[in-house]
Amino acid sequence: MIELGPNLIERVAGKFDFDIFQQSPQAVGRLTRMVGLTMEAVGIELSVGHNCVVIDKDGRAIEAEVVGFDNDVSYLMPVQRIDGMQPGAKVLPTDRRSALVMGEHLCGRVINGIGRPLDDKGPLDELSRDDFKIQHINPLHRHPIDEPLDVGIGAINALMTVGKGQRIGLFAGSGVGKSMLLGMMTRFTEADIVVVGLIGERGREVKEFIDHILGEEGLKKAVVVASPADDAPLMRLRAAQLASRVAEYFRDRGRNVLLLMDSLTRYAQAQREIALAAGEPPATKGYPPSVFARIPELVERAGNAEQGGGSVTAFYTVLTEGDDLQDPIADSARAILDGHIVLSRALAEEGVYPAIDIEASISRVMPNIVSADKLAQAQNVKRLLSLYRSNRDLITIGAYSKGSDPALDEAIERHPALMDFVRQALGTGRNLEQSWVQLQHALTRKSADTNTAPAAPSPLRGQHEAGKRTLNSATNKPQET
Ligand SMILES: Nc1ncnc2c1ncn2[C@@H]1O[C@H](COP(=O)(O)OP(=O)(O)O)[C@@H](O)[C@H]1O
Ligand SMILES: [Mg+2]
Repeated sequence: MIELGPNLIERVAGKFDFDIFQQSPQAVGRLTRMVGLTMEAVGIELSVGHNCVVIDKDGRAIEAEVVGFDNDVSYLMPVQRIDGMQPGAKVLPTDRRSALVMGEHLCGRVINGIGRPLDDKGPLDELSRDDFKIQHINPLHRHPIDEPLDVGIGAINALMTVGKGQRIGLFAGSGVGKSMLLGMMTRFTEADIVVVGLIGERGREVKEFIDHILGEEGLKKAVVVASPADDAPLMRLRAAQLASRVAEYFRDRGRNVLLLMDSLTRYAQAQREIALAAGEPPATKGYPPSVFARIPELVERAGNAEQGGGSVTAFYTVLTEGDDLQDPIADSARAILDGHIVLSRALAEEGVYPAIDIEASISRVMPNIVSADKLAQAQNVKRLLSLYRSNRDLITIGAYSKGSDPALDEAIERHPALMDFVRQALGTGRNLEQSWVQLQHALTRKSADTNTAPAAPSPLRGQHEAGKRTLNSATNKPQET
């Protein structure tokens, strides 16, 4: 049996602020094996999901979680990166997970997956602590999605209106503009608080997102939980869970929260690493079954609270590798989300940003939250764009002669105005009303009268005058000049 002197407990507990509960010396285990990231320990009888700390002879200590067991052997995964552990290192149960800092003061901060600050704005005030437990809301008690949320993006607001409490997938390959779009939403949405989960991104991207895409203004009403790709898989997993927890915290205080998770695919990959390391057999494309259980578990946490409470509207980005929408993660995500927005590489290459593929995107709750004529208008736009696309080759080689098909004539005439409507400069936001007015204008404007200004700024003007429209630093809303 390993004897654990009181000094060691104090030293470790002081250093890491763990609450080590050691009822009996038997609770101390010993490391017997380590392969890759998986550690095997004997002598601890902890349930799966429990936390412990592994301490070696040199006093190095790392946090770990029990991810499985086999008879007397417990499998542990580190929460942080390990720089070497010896056989025989001590394993102590801890209570760290119930010690997350939570509260209003998280606004404007960047934290990691275990709630410690990554920015240099000083330590977090430990006013209120929170446990990590998932609070299940009876689905029958949730307030229905019946109100639109302004996300600040014209094409989304008018053509795939998002409802408060909706969960949407943002499907795209890499480099098509997901992060930029999330950044625009953070700055221009009317939501009270934005919680951004940056999971498994490159470290450089995390910094870029915070410094350039969000900026000082965007960060003010945002909480960023970041876990870059080089973090241990457990840390990445926890960052996604913590972001959801923070969103729930504000929702439970009656706020309308926008949760942006970038990306769900990296979350699934982190779970894949953990599950494979713990010995779970792979099933679909190398993903073990537990991955497909983890996705709904995370996604179901977003949504509305009970009647009268706040809401968590969530966007989850899904990487479609090689722009393949058939990836098992994309499939599984699409099935459980209430809508998806697809970013198209072809549009991005044409310089249409945000590169939203209107035809392929859908908001499943839109019929419940907008009037019948707005819905009909959105469907009309899809019809026109789809007609244009299927005849595009004919049109571009000049094989189509005007007048043969009135519907196609209309599609051709409207196409430039509709593309202008989709385009939105990085520094400008469009609220719901502006979005509808501009869409109306794009659908009715004669191709020759682009100079006649409508009541609300036209998409064309929005583009041309992008430089002139500035952010009001007080409200963080675009100002007309
Ligand atoms: N709204 C936009 N306006 C102009 N350029 C954009 C816009 N969105 C994306 N881009 C271009 O696309 C690149 C990749 O965007 P990013 O959001 O980082 O992609 P992803 O997160 O999908 O990998 C950017 O560096 C930028 O050059
Ligand atoms: Mg990105």
